[in-house]
Amino acid sequence: MKKAIILLVTMMMTVGILAACGTGEKANKKSGDKKELVMATSADYPPFEYVETGKSDEIIGFDVDLAKTIASKLGYKVTVKDMDFGGLVQSLKSGQADFVLAGMTPTEKRKKNVDFSDIYYTAQHLVVSKKDSGIETIEDLKGKTVGVQLGSIQEGKAEEINKQVPIKIENRNRIPDLIQEIKSGRFDAAIIEDTVAKGYFEKEKEFKGFTLSDDPEEAGSAIAFQKNSDLTAKFNKELKKMKENGELQKLVVKWFGGEQ
Ligand code: ARG
Repeated sequence: MKKAIILLVTMMMTVGILAACGTGEKANKKSGDKKELVMATSADYPPFEYVETGKSDEIIGFDVDLAKTIASKLGYKVTVKDMDFGGLVQSLKSGQADFVLAGMTPTEKRKKNVDFSDIYYTAQHLVVSKKDSGIETIEDLKGKTVGVQLGSIQEGKAEEINKQVPIKIENRNRIPDLIQEIKSGRFDAAIIEDTVAKGYFEKEKEFKGFTLSDDPEEAGSAIAFQKNSDLTAKFNKELKKMKENGELQKLVVKWFGGEQ
């Protein structure tokens, strides 16, 4: 009898889980008379995409504004989906998202699985540490623990450093976790893009950083799409217009305070 009840409960739970999976949003659906596109992002990246603490749980930022501006010109509404950075490419492959805007850099490896728009913003890699860490150059990282975001191109940067001087590489899913690990002393440093790192420098006075490479294209951001999506060309066309008519620059000033 007891066994039968356990079996029954297990079966009911399985059905429940399956039902919950089935309600997952489908990308590119119609809502009302306006078409809707699903944007996937990793909302741990102020000022690109983040949730303001203490305010609503709405995801805001440069990327969200850019997505909404382009999409609305094309007659689409945007729904933003938050996930870990490491799952973004897969969300396009599985059709869970129509595009990804997440400060993502178009790398050769990613291009095997997704298509990219032109670059809309350029950035550099920064080695971030506590002001009293004594870390001023790559050599100073010798034997140190260096954090990077899982699935980011900063992982590759850390491996490059490791070829020059031996370091211990650690990864985390979210940027705030990297910051937290430096604060607590578990990490000596982390590799984070300049625009995002500078935001943390304003809040966290005990942090500093130095630039890892001076090629700003190296960490440039582009919009990612499903392979062969017809959205790529459409978005690119609008992006180009926004670059030419100053609209993109306006967004840069709004979110990055006028640099670049
Ligand atoms: N540009 C880097 C990359 O493509 C890091 C982007 C991280 N973005 C984020 N939303 N956390 O790997």
